[in-house]
Amino acid sequence: MENNFKKFANENLQPKTFTFDNINLGKAKEIIKMYPKNYKESSIMPLLSIAQNQNDGWLPKKAIEYVSAFLNVPEIKVLEIATFYSMYNLSPVGKNHIEVCTTSPCMLRGSDEILVKLKKLIGANIGEVSKDCVFSLNKVECLGACVNAPIVKINQNYYEDLNLQSVEELINKLRVNKKIKIGPQSSRKGSEPRKN
Ligand code: FES
Repeated sequence: MENNFKKFANENLQPKTFTFDNINLGKAKEIIKMYPKNYKESSIMPLLSIAQNQNDGWLPKKAIEYVSAFLNVPEIKVLEIATFYSMYNLSPVGKNHIEVCTTSPCMLRGSDEILVKLKKLIGANIGEVSKDCVFSLNKVECLGACVNAPIVKINQNYYEDLNLQSVEELINKLRVNKKIKIGPQSSRKGSEPRKN
């Protein structure tokens, strides 16, 4: 069953506390300065992203409480955002969290087949973590890079111009901790026109 990492992790997985480490505390303070003092809610999304990155790619309840207290905004406002956007995970993800865009432009360029292939390669369905915890899989709406469809996001980076072969190569490399090229997996650079 698809759960898309939108269900809070069981209590036994929830940490007892959460606070930003020193580096992230500095980043959070800089972010707050970017917005007018009376629009503290504007910082919720970037602060949740920082919290998620600090906590291995998912947001525990304590992180949501912490961001709410840090910004002095009602917890429900933070919760609304954390539960709405697919970019926030409320339960643990794999070391490589894969998000496959299946919206129309990516679908027309083969994302459905890529999703099927990925499920087989990593041995996990949508909303699941692979047995070895190296991968997790999610299906998302447009990632905003349609010009290089089909697109897959893995952790913080986009992998573009994919096909079944390049997806398999990416997974094989990640499995053995090899570095993978970010961006287009074809020969073109950025979004330049195809040469063939
Ligand atoms: S439709 Fe996939 S990135 Fe926009």
